[in-house]
Amino acid sequence: MSTELDTGLMPFHAMEMVARAKLLEAQGRTILHLEVGEPAVPPAPRVIEAVARALPEAQRYTNSKGQIELRRRLADYYAVQHGVEIDPESIVVTMGSSSAFILAFLGGFELGTRIAVTRPGYPAYLNTLNGLGFRAVQIPVTASNGWRLSATDIVAVHAQQPFDGLLFASPANPTGASVDRAGLAEIVATCRRLGVRLISDEIYHGLDYRGPSVSAAEFGTDSIVINSFSKYYCMTGWRIGWIVLPEPLLRKVEMLQQNLFISAPTLSQIAARVALGERDYSETQKAGYAENRGILTAGLSALGFAVVGQADGAFYAYADVSAFTNNSLKFCEDLLDHAGVAATPGIDFDRVDGNRFVRLSYAGSRQTMELALERMAGFLARPA
Ligand SMILES: Cc1ncc(COP(=O)(O)O)c(C=O)c1O
Repeated sequence: MSTELDTGLMPFHAMEMVARAKLLEAQGRTILHLEVGEPAVPPAPRVIEAVARALPEAQRYTNSKGQIELRRRLADYYAVQHGVEIDPESIVVTMGSSSAFILAFLGGFELGTRIAVTRPGYPAYLNTLNGLGFRAVQIPVTASNGWRLSATDIVAVHAQQPFDGLLFASPANPTGASVDRAGLAEIVATCRRLGVRLISDEIYHGLDYRGPSVSAAEFGTDSIVINSFSKYYCMTGWRIGWIVLPEPLLRKVEMLQQNLFISAPTLSQIAARVALGERDYSETQKAGYAENRGILTAGLSALGFAVVGQADGAFYAYADVSAFTNNSLKFCEDLLDHAGVAATPGIDFDRVDGNRFVRLSYAGSRQTMELALERMAGFLARPA
């Protein structure tokens, strides 16, 4: 059921597809970018204005944990969005959630311990765990269960291969699956009972289409909570995120941050502080993703892709392509080369069943979705 992985570092195929697409663009081709999970629009205008004003005085390091003004705003965010009181001192501002994973793993666990992740799941989880010397255990989640992780899944895999940590995202990448409040409460309680430390990757928070996003922070202070400005706030390239830590881990993580990264980029911290007040802008973008979700899901189904239905959150369609191929990488390369549509092969997210899937991001414009569907129809109808 679960698999302990070898330490082989794998490429991040989404980024490899970006590179391949850029090469084609350099040759004059027009490429539709559905491969990478990033909003096409810039951050809110007030974010850019604030950064422009701050430019002359933003050359220095900040406090390693991040500017206190930003950490206070983040504490306000938890009070308003989640009704919980978070001490700004328990927050460390990071370089996206990517550097927060490193801090969480090294700060929360002994090297070599087992940490569980879902399959399919975000590829950097496995690669980072493996690269740092932890052992990853995979918990399969299935389309028949809406790709949602359940407490039962955790218990079943833990019984076979006990693990010390569990890292999972809700909404998830690549499936967009979200657990609801009851589901998350059960996951938190199950982890507690098993002595498993939970790392909750909340990077797609705000992008839940069924209701408000629920944070693990709402169920106590023993989970590690990770979030980022990349997705909801349209700031992928600003490399800024944060981690909320249980008190016993704080000092160790602070020292890791000091030594590994010194501090997150100063300008990005200023931008992030302003972005937190610009949720209306993010909600407008989200309405666009919601519309795209409907268009893409219906369009893919009509073309013969098998999709579970509209995803709960995030901005991805994870589509079964077994009607067309048994090699998702080759399928994506051909789709890009012949039709100019960039998508990500499922092998990025699932080293076992990933050849049956591709992931398409609908964080772009409506026109991009419509044109991509048109081009895909032509591609699938081409003579063999
Ligand atoms: C689930 C998940 N976590 C983390 C990340 C990394 O994001 P960042 O480092 O930009 O915050 C991504 C990026 O796609 C993601 O999908």
